[in-house]
Amino acid sequence: MSPSLTAASLSERLAGVGLARRVLFYAELGSTNDEAFDLARQGAPEGTVVVADRQTRGRGRMQRAWVSPPGRNLYLSLVLRPDIAPEQAPQLSIVAGVAAAEALWGLCPGVTLKWPNDVLAGGRKLCGILAEMKAAAGRLDFVILGIGVNVNLLREECPPEIAEVATSLREETGGPLSRAEVAAVLLRSLEAAYRTYCREGFAPLRARWLERTDMAGKPVRVVAGPDVYEGRMGGLDDAGALLLEEKTGNVRAVMAGDASLVKG
Ligand code: BTN
Repeated sequence: MSPSLTAASLSERLAGVGLARRVLFYAELGSTNDEAFDLARQGAPEGTVVVADRQTRGRGRMQRAWVSPPGRNLYLSLVLRPDIAPEQAPQLSIVAGVAAAEALWGLCPGVTLKWPNDVLAGGRKLCGILAEMKAAAGRLDFVILGIGVNVNLLREECPPEIAEVATSLREETGGPLSRAEVAAVLLRSLEAAYRTYCREGFAPLRARWLERTDMAGKPVRVVAGPDVYEGRMGGLDDAGALLLEEKTGNVRAVMAGDASLVKG
């Protein structure tokens, strides 16, 4: 049995987490990102957190579905209102990746980051992050950080195509974990990383991201829609784009896509 996630267990664990100043729990939502986006549009403050036990239209990057069964995983979206330009907003997706990897390392040592912000354990996906924003007239209004953590998912219960690429904290560590506890560890880590970002800018977070990936300096392939790029991963640019040093000597900045290490 996986420990159940309730409004009471969440508010108990999240008490004192500054970035979780208003926590809304739902048994079921289409997508926590959609709910958080609507709330933010209506003026919800920074630190509004939306959590659901189950999503019926969970969304991932690149218009993919995020499989969101009840009783197993954590589906959480956080409203942020940083004082930055809209062009800087993609940096927050890197910041969130760093915070998630640092938090999950404490529960599952050895996790790595795959650009832009997937947290992997043993090469399989443990956590995915979908950052969305609203800007108007050159000003950033808000950013929604949507985070999905596979906490107690059992691969044997998944369709084969998911079982092949996904893992969970339970699969990696052997025991069921409290999702409220994982939410608390995650939001505390996000709070610390976000404060550093607001105080010191992107550079220290970019350095921490690079420490936790095994892609830096290696040959990688990025599939970006119909385009496929290959090269050596040179790092991240000021917006969090992946810098690809191509054979021609050209350095390409890739803003979105699926990256993987080229083996052999
Ligand atoms: C990805 O790796 O493709 C990103 C997955 C993000 C999933 C989370 S679950 C909570 C939030 N609500 C959503 O619909 N998506 C994000």
